[in-house]
Amino acid sequence: MDRPLSELLDVHEVLAERFAEHQERLVEGEIAVAAERFEAYAALLGVHMRSEEELVIPAFEGLGLDCERGRAELYRAEHARICWWIDELRAGLAALRGTPDDLRSRIALLDREATFKRVMEHHDLREREYLYPLLDEHAGAAARARLWTAIEALERTPLADRAAREAPAK
Ligand SMILES: [Fe+2]
Ligand SMILES: [Fe+2]
Repeated sequence: MDRPLSELLDVHEVLAERFAEHQERLVEGEIAVAAERFEAYAALLGVHMRSEEELVIPAFEGLGLDCERGRAELYRAEHARICWWIDELRAGLAALRGTPDDLRSRIALLDREATFKRVMEHHDLREREYLYPLLDEHAGAAARARLWTAIEALERTPLADRAAREAPAK
């Protein structure tokens, strides 16, 4: 079956939905549930970005598809920025746990999240306009099939937690 790699963009919609579920709980002041939903979102995002960094972007680079607004380093830089945001928002949620009735703090966090959502929209657009369409256009059916097999295998591998990944190898 010839399956376009752009199907991976469907994950972006699932992610947006998970983030909305998190925000619904945050608006309601259910901070613990909001944090749980946020972690579900962050876990899915981590799996998706790992597939892109380890498989999709290298395939894109390997085919020499870099173009001005769709350079491999831009996707990687945006992923690093997204990881920074995840840590920021996680810390913001942790701070709210002690003051669940502090409406102003909740509004401040929602404002930060609005900025994060713009970062994600921008990233979605770059991948939607360049990364996936160019890959689908230039990778042959056999290469796409191999990539899908590798992506599915990688997605079944649990994410190493960041502390473990960053620890020096013994
Ligand atoms: Fe993506
Ligand atoms: Fe991405």
